[in-house]
Amino acid sequence: RPRVLSGIQPTADSFHFGNYLGALRQWVDLQRDHQPFFFIADQHAITVEQDPKVLRERTLRAAAQLLAMGIDPARSAIFVQSQVPAHAQLGWVLNCLTGVGEARRMTQFKDKSSKQGEGAASVGLFTYPILQAADILLYRPHYVPVGEDQRQHLELTRDLAQRFNHRYKKTFRLPEPYILKATAKIGDLQNPTAKMSKSASSPAGIIEMLDEPKVSAKKIRSAVTDSDAEIRFDPETKPGVSNLLTIFSALTGHAPTAIQEHYDGKGYGDLKDDLADVVVDFVTPFRERTLELLDDQAHLTEVLRQGAEQAGAVAEATLRDVYQRVGFVAAA
Ligand code: TYM
Repeated sequence: RPRVLSGIQPTADSFHFGNYLGALRQWVDLQRDHQPFFFIADQHAITVEQDPKVLRERTLRAAAQLLAMGIDPARSAIFVQSQVPAHAQLGWVLNCLTGVGEARRMTQFKDKSSKQGEGAASVGLFTYPILQAADILLYRPHYVPVGEDQRQHLELTRDLAQRFNHRYKKTFRLPEPYILKATAKIGDLQNPTAKMSKSASSPAGIIEMLDEPKVSAKKIRSAVTDSDAEIRFDPETKPGVSNLLTIFSALTGHAPTAIQEHYDGKGYGDLKDDLADVVVDFVTPFRERTLELLDDQAHLTEVLRQGAEQAGAVAEATLRDVYQRVGFVAAA
């Protein structure tokens, strides 16, 4: 079975619809006929300051949400990044293979450091994509299911894999991004040409998976639409309505054009009311299940421990090859 790997940062109390439709839903689907490794990227989270207590809580909330949406520990290794030390260890080796200029071209660092200024950002934020490359390459995955915003990091990952393979010996598989076009970039409800983002969006722009369902319904009803009143799927000229149609389509399985036809002659209000119902029906059981799972933290930490054990065995085997190939003397 082909391998897949992906990660998510525990930097919010709840995942949002961009995370879910852009990536996490594919994680769940790919479990069926792949060998999956899914992890919570707590080491990536601390590239910006985190409150330790909150980080710990959010890591467990992330685990509960992954289980609630259908990640099955019997099929997938689900684990916390910091519990598998090979990530940071391979990260160091790859740091030594990456040019400063090459790292500087990563647009996410530019975006994320622009507010405070580059000098105030952490070196960890700068080398973030290199740790991400290590996360991926350790497991020699075929596919990495992510949203569009991760494409550049996947390209760097492939470059570093190729460089290592060429300089030493063929060690890494060149992974393919697995990005579904229809949901690769879910828009902010208030600013639909920008992506829905936990750091950049206003609360009204994000549908959180763990919001009270009636809060989500309200956010859908007050989403920004376009100036004319026509319900038509056209992301270029009608980004607001098209974003709603994308979400509608993803949750119901109906094509955007079919939904568009159904609303022929109706108004934005009708579409929003119906989408609000669809969203409420979807998040209500998800939220209940997550809260239930959070009540049993011993179970969650045990699932994560087992996941780290499974993942650790694979990661350490790759790291051993890497250490040998770069010329480190093996401990006797
Ligand atoms: P993160 O935590 O920001 O987001 C998790 C996943 O959600 C996707 N995503 C979106 N997709 C569509 N529309 C949106 N508006 C949207 N917002 C977020 C992201 O593309 C991502 O797939 N660097 C990664 C975490 C990471 C990782 C890895 C991923 C660390 N190591 C190794 C893959 C492989 C990140 O910050 O994702």
